[in-house]
Amino acid sequence: MSVTETVFGTMPDGESVLCYTITNKSGASAAVITYGATLQSLLVPNRSGGLTDVVLGYDTLEDYRKNKMYLGATIGRVGNRIEKARFTLNGKEYGLFANDGAQCLHGGKIGFDKQNWSAKAADDSVVFTLTSPDGDEGFPGNLTVTVIYTLADDNALSIRYFAVSDQDTIVNLTNHSYFNLAGQGAGTVLDQTLMIDADRFTRIDSDIVPNGEIVPVAGTALDFRKAKPIGRDIGAVGEYMDAAQGYDHNFVLNNKKGGLALAARAADPQGGVVMETYTDQPGVQLFTAFDFTGMRGKNGAEYGSRPSFCLETQHFANAMEHPNFPSIVLHAGEVLDSETIYRFTTAK
Ligand code: GAL
Repeated sequence: MSVTETVFGTMPDGESVLCYTITNKSGASAAVITYGATLQSLLVPNRSGGLTDVVLGYDTLEDYRKNKMYLGATIGRVGNRIEKARFTLNGKEYGLFANDGAQCLHGGKIGFDKQNWSAKAADDSVVFTLTSPDGDEGFPGNLTVTVIYTLADDNALSIRYFAVSDQDTIVNLTNHSYFNLAGQGAGTVLDQTLMIDADRFTRIDSDIVPNGEIVPVAGTALDFRKAKPIGRDIGAVGEYMDAAQGYDHNFVLNNKKGGLALAARAADPQGGVVMETYTDQPGVQLFTAFDFTGMRGKNGAEYGSRPSFCLETQHFANAMEHPNFPSIVLHAGEVLDSETIYRFTTAK
């Protein structure tokens, strides 16, 4: 197990953006950069004895800074959409930046994905910290956030989140990695299979904002309770698929016991890479990016259409509008402590 540090780029103010690469005993590695506390690459063993980079990303800081799709980034303060870019907490209304139509998406104008975090490397992990001041992007409270990436010898990448605020506030942290288990740039993910342990999902309106209804997946294209190819029902445009041009939905995870539980299992039948997602979060957003044609990623990869899927473990979007959704309020002094693990194996 080792962690190496290199300079990835320089911010306009002269600050260095560092890249840390954690390598385990099987040669698997995770590279994370301080800009956005971003997962930049993730090399995992494949069936032929080689390594496959299963996340989309860029080679340069310039590309990350231009990037509008949050590739691999840590998302905050509040992942996904807040309807009409405002919320009420303790009787007070807070206004946010509307960066997605009328909505606030992924934290606003300069979310956590666009900031250069502080970092410290340990044996098998990298600890990122960020202080978001009171009023940052309109959110109340001085918020201190820690995100720890750990790569274990069994090829499990853990992302652990801590946050604490000096005032009541709202928080919903996630990671926005785009996975392709055949390798970044290896074509579409439509033949890769996916199981999501969710009987229900949160219905969205035409702005991809949950309207508060929680409905069964049964009989819809969102039924992933048994593994099926991601592409099988993606074209079966129904009521819920129109707005999102594919999957862009929050699944309500079954996890009856609470704590870390298997949320999803994805597999590439060709290369044999299998990814299990474990989380203690109540939901997961499945996002199948529609068309990245023209986007060039690492090593000149052409991403094209349907090149990846995201499994963003989270609280449900628009939670402040819907008291039936799990709360995203973080009370003053309370410690948010959450973990998501992406674990890789190979299938015969
Ligand atoms: C997802 C969101 C999508 C899209 C994407 C990146 O989390 O659900 O609608 O905004 O992020 O832009």
